[in-house]
Amino acid sequence: MVVFALLFASPEFAGSPICAGCHAEIAQTQAKTHHARALSEAPGGRWAFGAGAQAITYVSQSTEDTYVEHGLSWYRKIDGLALTPGHPDSRGVTYRTFAPDAAILRCFQCHSTGMLRLGAQRRIEPAELGVRCEACHGPAAAHARMPSRHNIRNPARFTAAELNQLCGQCHRMPPAQGEETNFENPWNVRHQPVYFTQSACFRKSDGKLSCLSCHRPHSDQPASASLKCAECHPKPKHQSNVSNRSCVSCHMPVVNPSPWLSFHNHWIGIYQLTGPQANPLRPLKQWPGR
Ligand code: HEC
Ligand code: HEC
Ligand code: HEC
Ligand code: HEC
Ligand code: HEC
Ligand code: HEC
Ligand code: HEC
Repeated sequence: MVVFALLFASPEFAGSPICAGCHAEIAQTQAKTHHARALSEAPGGRWAFGAGAQAITYVSQSTEDTYVEHGLSWYRKIDGLALTPGHPDSRGVTYRTFAPDAAILRCFQCHSTGMLRLGAQRRIEPAELGVRCEACHGPAAAHARMPSRHNIRNPARFTAAELNQLCGQCHRMPPAQGEETNFENPWNVRHQPVYFTQSACFRKSDGKLSCLSCHRPHSDQPASASLKCAECHPKPKHQSNVSNRSCVSCHMPVVNPSPWLSFHNHWIGIYQLTGPQANPLRPLKQWPGR
């Protein structure tokens, strides 16, 4: 019995093929998502980061101790190559694998599932490519051996704030108390939990609005298909007629941090989108609680 208890307590990863044995339908849908394809092996020993929804950046090992992030990335908008964000030219940037900020290890961590291992020549070897089951449900070998709802994390039972933390592991955490965020920097808009938690909709709805109100966790179904604005705002007071445009286009405006990338501002608010003061980064009036 002691051995059994130890097995039970060890936080081992099983891998999505094991989960698929019993949760076939979810596994099939999830495998098609951008999450599942966020990292893959490309020809020439390169790693391809990004499913290609917007872009793919290549990374390869250059020596036993270094990795190179390639200077040219592929962008869907142009169906071609252009400079990787943050790179001054196309030569690529070299990282030491064990640099103090672990930048390259962290790329693999957010784009894969399970523990990273080091192989021959100190090659980084992800346990499983892409964002799969246990990235969100936690290591679950024990559950796979003896299924029960008591030995698996089900985020359906999470509060809206806990979901921000779960998704925020990779999409970036909401700012801690007193932490300053530069909301005018368009690169930060891709950090949805950071912006979302500033919204009056989130702050004033008693936990009824979360990432899961609009996003399905196992598919790429567009959020706009499940928008629930009207549930809380049946009759918004508009000074002019806005009827033929979507709520999102004005209240979660698109921001382009580069000509080839776009993100939706998750700080749901009232923006000045036309005229000389146009700014899709920060709402006109802030919620007085801030
Ligand atoms: C041997 C079959 C089996 C395997 C393998 C398996 N599960 Fe399950 N899973 C079940 C069963 C049966 C339930 C329902 C348990 C219950 O209602 O008590 C369940 C329930 C769940 C739930 C919902 C729990 C809840 O709160 O209702 C999640 C999430 C889950 N499994 C995830 C996983 C993941 C992730 C993996 C792979 C690491 C996995 N399962 C592998 C059989 C399995
Ligand atoms: C382990 C890291 C990780 C976790 C945890 C995670 N994500 Fe992601 N997510 C990613 C990565 C990486 C991508 C980019 C995929 C790609 O390459 O297009 C992504 C993409 C997305 C997308 C865009 C999908 C599309 O159609 O292009 C949505 C929406 C999303 N995540 C929502 C969530 C939500 C909601 C949660 C929490 C329930 C969550 N994510 C948890 C890493 C993660
Ligand atoms: C903290 C977790 C995290 C780290 C570290 C990380 N990524 Fe990502 N990455 C994400 C998430 C989340 C997305 C999805 C962004 C979105 O669509 O909002 C993403 C998206 C991408 C994309 C798709 C294009 C885009 O810009 O959305 C590429 C390419 C990419 N990452 C490459 C990398 C590379 C290369 C590294 C290391 C230098 C890296 N990532 C480090 C979480 C991370
Ligand atoms: C991006 C995070 C994420 C990933 C990746 C993920 N799940 Fe889930 N899963 C969730 C969330 C969130 C819920 C709660 C769904 C809800 O409340 O609508 C959930 C619910 C479940 C449930 C409970 C039944 C249900 O449909 O609500 C099962 C079973 C499950 N997931 C299995 C899996 C399996 C198997 C995989 C891998 C093939 C997987 N999940 C990948 C986030 C994720
Ligand atoms: C779960 C309920 C809920 C949902 C869903 C919701 N909101 Fe809100 N929203 C609120 C609450 C509560 C407030 C604060 C109202 C107040 O201050 O009296 C608010 C405030 C706003 C404001 C005013 C912002 C400000 O800073 O004063 C706008 C604009 C708005 N919502 C638009 C939207 C749009 C567009 C959607 C859909 C994408 C949406 N909301 C979805 C609850 C919600
Ligand atoms: C009120 C609805 C709503 C909520 C709540 C919401 N999103 Fe979104 N999200 C959207 C819409 C609309 C889009 C635009 C694309 C689409 O329709 O799927 C989007 C797009 C995204 C994308 C793709 C990149 C981008 O910014 O365009 C990611 C990643 C994402 N959301 C993550 C999250 C995470 C993580 C949370 C919780 C912190 C969250 N979202 C909460 C509505 C929402
Ligand atoms: C063309 C841009 C535009 C569209 C589309 C739009 N809004 Fe607005 N909304 C605004 C502006 C601008 C304001 C500030 C008041 C004003 O000037 O009319 C506002 C104010 C609001 C407010 C705060 C006022 C109030 O009633 O409390 C809410 C809530 C709101 N909108 C929700 C929505 C919802 C829900 C939709 C989709 C059905 C939507 N809006 C579509 C531009 C838009």
